Amino acid sequence: MEQTFIMIKPDGVQRGLVGEIIGRFEKKGFYLKGLKLITVDQSFAEKHYADLSAKPFFNGLVEYIISGPVVAMIWEGKNVVTTGRKIIGATNPAESAPGTIRGDFAIDIGRNVIHGSDSVESARKEIALWFPESPVNWQSSVH
Ligand code: CMP
Repeated sequence: MEQTFIMIKPDGVQRGLVGEIIGRFEKKGFYLKGLKLITVDQSFAEKHYADLSAKPFFNGLVEYIISGPVVAMIWEGKNVVTTGRKIIGATNPAESAPGTIRGDFAIDIGRNVIHGSDSVESARKEIALWFPESPVNWQSSVH
């Protein structure tokens, strides 16, 4: 079964949006397969966002992600990568539709509440990075 990596960023945790966000994924019908509250350091955040290292906003993005605890999660279900991105909404909250998480709760692209893997391959890499202790999460499971 397909899995994706979802992270509630420091602003989402600080604003008390954890329950709301988890509820949206649960109500859609996805299965929560891993969850932890974790504060990551600079080198870890740089690994997570390695593909963006040439972007002008990279340093600010890393600083933001290490500024407080995040909620790291594995969610599982049919088409969860693509559908999860739809639940989250467009990266820039100015373009994300009402009804999506960013559309409802964010204004600024630099404080956009949540991250979701953009492909099955990214999900595989991100789950391996954030949940190295749980290789079992890679096995498909029967519901
Ligand atoms: P995320 O889904 O975590 O993937 C990459 C992140 O980079 C994105 O959400 C935004 O938080 C951030 N990002 C993308 N574009 C910009 C930008 N122009 N300025 C600041 N942050 C950005």
